[in-house]
This record gives sequence, structure tokens and C-alpha cells, in this order.
Amino acid sequence: MPSVGEILDGKRICICAGSGGVGKTTTSAAIAAGMAARGLRVCVLTIDPAKRLADSLGLEELGNEARQVDPALFAEQGVEIKGELWAMMLDAKATFDELVARQAPDEEARDRVLGNRIYQQISSALAGSQEYMAMEKLFELHTEDRFDLLVLDTPPTRNALDFLDAPKRLTQFIEGRSLRVFMKPTGFAAKVAGRGASVALSVFKRIVGFDLIADLAEFFNAFSGMVDGFQARARRVNSLLADHRTCFLVVCGPQGEPVDEAVYFHRKLVEAKLPFGGVIVNKVHYPAERLRGDGADLPAVLAERLGEDLGGRVCENFADYQALAERDSRNIDRLAGELRTQAVIRVPHLDEDVHDLAGLAEINRYLFASAEQREALAAGRA
Ligand SMILES: Nc1ncnc2c1ncn2[C@@H]1O[C@H](COP(=O)(O)OP(=O)(O)OP(=O)(O)O)[C@@H](O)[C@H]1O
Ligand SMILES: [Mg+2]
Repeated sequence: MPSVGEILDGKRICICAGSGGVGKTTTSAAIAAGMAARGLRVCVLTIDPAKRLADSLGLEELGNEARQVDPALFAEQGVEIKGELWAMMLDAKATFDELVARQAPDEEARDRVLGNRIYQQISSALAGSQEYMAMEKLFELHTEDRFDLLVLDTPPTRNALDFLDAPKRLTQFIEGRSLRVFMKPTGFAAKVAGRGASVALSVFKRIVGFDLIADLAEFFNAFSGMVDGFQARARRVNSLLADHRTCFLVVCGPQGEPVDEAVYFHRKLVEAKLPFGGVIVNKVHYPAERLRGDGADLPAVLAERLGEDLGGRVCENFADYQALAERDSRNIDRLAGELRTQAVIRVPHLDEDVHDLAGLAEINRYLFASAEQREALAAGRA
């Protein structure tokens, strides 16, 4: 079973994908820190990190700009960062604006689009889905070539697949027939659409007033010149995702449903010919008896230390926990079987939320453990 360090050896991009709440943000930050500790210049692009985690990475505000995390903060935790760790909180709207600025033929066209009220609405709505903008930013940073490795956290989608579909959705929106009709009305279709549109427009006009119509027309005109640029870029983003130096890590929980989702997501990755690197099963219940060393007669020990009553209740609790651990272990075996992969890395459910560098370091003991270290960890000896 490889460690994350081995899986990511030689990779330039690592994308942590998975369903909501499984630990994508935590894992991305931990992986970035772990790889930076090994000597790489790493940047993690994170999305909506919990405030305390953001604070501990020194990301006080949305900046859409990478900031270096102070290595002294890690040194305090006993972690030496041999390379550099940078972090950025993604601002989807700002990324969209930057994209428009890049695609616009000149400053005037740029300002016309950015200042346009229709654009402001549409960009917020599109940016609201965040996925595409995350990949845009990734592409931009990759092109700049400032970092050895980029680690991308993905947005809290209900369904991890939304993320894979994002480039397609944007291209479809841009290629959308309705938009085309508005932009380049020609021939018969234009007459029909034109008549339809003019009825619609006159209704619009009555409801919302003339300014909006002017804004609409101006938006479509200004945007039309950029469509080809957007499409070309979306294609390049897609091929970057499929590159052999890109690696998707699927993050999931150990329960039945998250495991099913991970299996499904893996299948979609394979179908889309995107490079799958491994699965990280987060918040796993490790078998407790192993944490205490095999062979201890737990009921007797507890009864002696805590008395019959409390000892008995602790024992019941312990049995429940064991049942959970066994269930997790069965699910993970099934996951490994269905994915036909050895690359399944378990991270335990820690007692506390992971909101600081010490927490990330603790997660990394598991993510980056060698086979031997992993055995020791599972047996509670590390
Ligand atoms: N191994 C762990 N043990 C204990 N708590 C954890 C562990 N991993 C993550 N957490 C906590 O679980 C919560 C969710 O984690 P995180 O924010 O990383 O998930 P996410 O997948 O990014 O969620 P979202 O889909 O909402 O973006 C956080 O409070 C985090 O501190
Ligand atoms: Mg998150």
C-alpha cells in the first residue's frame, strides 16, 4: 500500500475530490504541508476552509493570491518544512473577472463586460458553482510554473460529480444555442428568434425598464468576442486535468453511502480517462483493542479500575465502538475490492476537529506513513 508521498511522486497537480463534509479541505491542507515538508514548493488552493484552519494557515481574508505560510509556525509543532508551503483561498467571482480580463480583446471591452449588470449577475451565479473557477485558477497557477506541486481542494458539492462536469457545463453555457442566437442572429433562425426575442424584449422592457435591455444587448455584444477564447481555454483546462502528471485523490468516509459514492466517482474518473491516484478514507474508527495492545482482558481491567457499574457501561460503549470499527473495516475492504486498488489510505477519526497545524501534522502521520509505520500506527505502537 503506497503512502501519499509515493502516490504523488513526480506529480504536478493533486486534486482532492469527494462528497460534502468528508474532509477534502483538511486533507488538501495536510497533503500540501506534508509535501512541502519533503522539500517541494507547494501551493494549496483551498475553498471555504473553516475559519480556524484558515487562521492557522495565515489566510485571514479572501485574496485570490497565494501567501506563504510561515515555516516558524510548523517548527513550533516540530515539523520542519524543507520546501515552501503557500496557500490561497479561492475567490470564484474574482477569478471569473480575471478570466474575462484575460479574454477581452482590449481594456474597453473588458470594462464594458465587467461593469455590465447582466455580467455581474451571471458571473455571480456561475461563480456560485465554483468548480470551474477552481480549475481556472489551477490552470493559471500551473501556467505560471511557480510551484512544484499544486493541491486543489474542491468545493462542497452535494455530488462529487458536479465537479467533473463543471468545464463541460461552462462550455455548454457559452456554446448554448440561446446565447448564440442573441449574439449572432443570422438567417431564418434569426428572424424567428428575432421576432420571438422582440416580443420577449418588449415584455421585459415594460417590466424592468429600458436600462436592462441596453445592458443585455451590450453584454451579448461584448461577450461574443470572447467566446472562442473561453472555449479554447476550457479545452486546455480539460487536457491539464487528464495529464499524467495530474492525480485525483478521492476522499471519502468509511460508512456505506460515502463508500458507494467513492466507487461511483472512481468509475466516472476512469470513464473520463482522468488519472486516479488513490482513495483516502477519512474519519475511520480504528479497532480499539489494537490501540491498547492485544490480549488485555478489558472488562476485568475496567471493572477493577472503575467499579462494576461504570466499568460495565464503558464496556458496552467499547463494544459499540468495536462494531463501528468492524463495519468501517468491511466497507474499506469492499472499497479496495471494487476499485481494484492497493492505494487506500486510512486516516482515523481524531478526537477533535482539525483546525491547526498540529492537527494537520497528526493527519500526516497516517497519510505519509510507510508500510511499517502504518502497521505500528494501527497497532497503537506509534
Ligand atoms: N480525521 C479527522 N478527525 C476528526 N475531525 C476531522 C477529520 N478530518 C476532518 N475533520 C473535521 O471535519 C470537518 C469537515 O472537514 P472538511 O472541512 O475538511 O471537510 P470538506 O470535505 O472540505 O467539507 P465541505 O464539503 O463542506 O467543503 C471539519 O470540522 C474538520 O476539522
Ligand atoms: Mg471543504
